[in-house]
Amino acid sequence: MRRRIRIPPIASSEITSETAYLSRRTFIRGAGMMAAPLVAGVSSPLASSESVAGAPLQYAPAGPGANGFYTDEPQTPFEDVASYCNFYEFGTDKGDPARYAGQMSTDPWSVEVGGAVARPGKLNLEDIMSGYDLEERVYRLRCVEAWSMVVPWIGFPLGDLLRRFEPTSSARYVEFRTLYRREEMPGTRSFTSIIDWPYREGLRMDEAMHPLTLVAVGLYGKTLPNQNGAPLRLVVPWKYGFKSIKSIVSIRLLEQQPATSWQSLAPREYGFYANVNPQVDHPRWSQKYERRLPSTLFRPNRMPTLMFNGYGEQVADLYKGMDLARFY
Ligand code: MTE
Repeated sequence: MRRRIRIPPIASSEITSETAYLSRRTFIRGAGMMAAPLVAGVSSPLASSESVAGAPLQYAPAGPGANGFYTDEPQTPFEDVASYCNFYEFGTDKGDPARYAGQMSTDPWSVEVGGAVARPGKLNLEDIMSGYDLEERVYRLRCVEAWSMVVPWIGFPLGDLLRRFEPTSSARYVEFRTLYRREEMPGTRSFTSIIDWPYREGLRMDEAMHPLTLVAVGLYGKTLPNQNGAPLRLVVPWKYGFKSIKSIVSIRLLEQQPATSWQSLAPREYGFYANVNPQVDHPRWSQKYERRLPSTLFRPNRMPTLMFNGYGEQVADLYKGMDLARFY
């Protein structure tokens, strides 16, 4: 049974102003741009056991069905999922998040939900962890860099969260923001930092409400390792991995399409939709194939990339009549 959660109204004074988010815009092209696929697939060892310790979660296991919630493909071992990461707040090397994300404090944690909703509010992590029935989802995750994984996530549908705040009729998009805490995030202090922090992502409202769109709080049966986006992140399995924003602190419903981090940085390379699409190449590499982790130079584990990452049956309808080469 679902327990009810309390959503107290928030005072406008609690909402951090836009200016507080403004940070330097150092667009040092190349240094930290998404890596070309050639370098993908070489895992680095976990730096410290501290950053991977998770608490066991109670959840309903995933099973086969037409909903796409489960795949029986071999799951990427936990060690690879937790050591080969993209979390630029901690650096651009795939091993940086596992090395440094232990510095990020995730307790206390809260998420502000505002914008076009009847009941804006703030959710504390405890409310989130006790307010939703957790379920397992075994999803493919396809990075725009052409590597992929199969991960058993634990979480709940984003739609369940959004509905509690009563979206108004003008809510057409959702914007997400990651925690931005410079002192705990060496990647945001680096001179090679290319992102205008905080990391931002967005979805169209119907994408956000789709049952496949998950708020993940764990993987492999335990709470998320920091490097994978603790304490809660998005997982949108039919889109390139950069849409699956980590360590979320703010969710805003909007009338206009929000600016997102990668699209702002390189609009010709990374679109707002970012649906996995083997027919539309990235300007610097092909998207026809991917390397499924674990992947090494000698055993690349290369396989064809599927339209919508194999979730076409569930999501193709969302894009009926749209030119997906134009809206990439
Ligand atoms: N979220 C934030 N805040 N910062 C990031 O750099 N990287 C994205 C996404 N979410 C990123 C992020 C990219 S490019 C990918 S592929 C996935 O996280 C990777 O998730 P994983 O490291 O858990 O596999």
